[in-house]
Amino acid sequence: MNSLYQSSIKSLPLLGHGKVRDNYAVGDDKILIVTSDRLSAFDVVMNEPIPGKGMVLNQMTDFWFEKLGHIVPNHLTGVAPESVVAPDEVEQVKGRAVVAKRLKPILVEAVVRGYIIGSGWKDYQATGAICGIQLPAGLKQAEKLPQPIFTPAAKADIGEHDENISFEDMEKRIGTELATKMRDVAIKLYTEASEYAASRGIIIADTKFEFGLDENGVMHLMDEVLTADSSRFWPADSYATGISPPSFDKQFVRDYLETLTDWGKTAPAPALPADVIAKTQAKYFEAIERLTGEKLKA
Ligand SMILES: Nc1ncnc2c1ncn2[C@@H]1O[C@H](COP(=O)(O)OP(=O)(O)O)[C@@H](O)[C@H]1O
Ligand SMILES: [Mg+2]
Repeated sequence: MNSLYQSSIKSLPLLGHGKVRDNYAVGDDKILIVTSDRLSAFDVVMNEPIPGKGMVLNQMTDFWFEKLGHIVPNHLTGVAPESVVAPDEVEQVKGRAVVAKRLKPILVEAVVRGYIIGSGWKDYQATGAICGIQLPAGLKQAEKLPQPIFTPAAKADIGEHDENISFEDMEKRIGTELATKMRDVAIKLYTEASEYAASRGIIIADTKFEFGLDENGVMHLMDEVLTADSSRFWPADSYATGISPPSFDKQFVRDYLETLTDWGKTAPAPALPADVIAKTQAKYFEAIERLTGEKLKA
């Protein structure tokens, strides 16, 4: 397995390193997105790669782009990543990169929740609502919601956590028409994906989509889609309410980090033990196999 902590493509201008992805300009209308093996937990990037994780995320995203392409256009160009880098850089992009349309990111993340957990559960306990959406009384932690809800979040600056906002706030930021379209598309994507995942024994508790506009103002789905990083995947056979069900992939890392009483969940990250890395890697591989029915193409 070819592991990549950070890419270094010298033949293209670097646009920036995100927590997990490295972006390069391809001409002035496309970008090369390389998904590294970095893992972030509590929004802090760990120092060790999870070998192959980036390939899993990239191939999961591709899988969903194809499955959900009839709902909304996406950023894929069909250009092979191998064709836009130098020959000695091909190894860095194999199986883990895409050449995407360079879009203008919409600075509101489209979060859809089918179950009440995480920050949604916290907000509900405090106010009975999530992002201003009033919910029935008496819901238990991790309970399935009567129907999926759209709970937008303002994209935070580097190092900050995203902030839940109301739909009215989202309308003020990007306009009613685009906000409504984003909400309706996001709910459709989540609904179709979660029905499919259920048939494979996986609950998609919630997920986050990112959208961008092309030069004609057409809304496209971009970034990563319905991966274990952008969603909470729960194995259906161990699902229960009243607890925070273990997530498919990052649970070993999170559990380990929670045992470190002297780490304040801010950078720098503590070192991860080898067994935590190995178990996490196995989970990512299991996730793609369970979801797509196929082994990772390495
Ligand atoms: N087609 C696209 N056009 C422009 N920007 C994109 C596109 N697809 C993804 N991005 C952006 O590229 C970055 C991906 O890197 P990532 O590691 O996910 O960053 P982050 O730390 O912000 O989550 C994100 O900022 C995302 O919004
Ligand atoms: Mg991201």
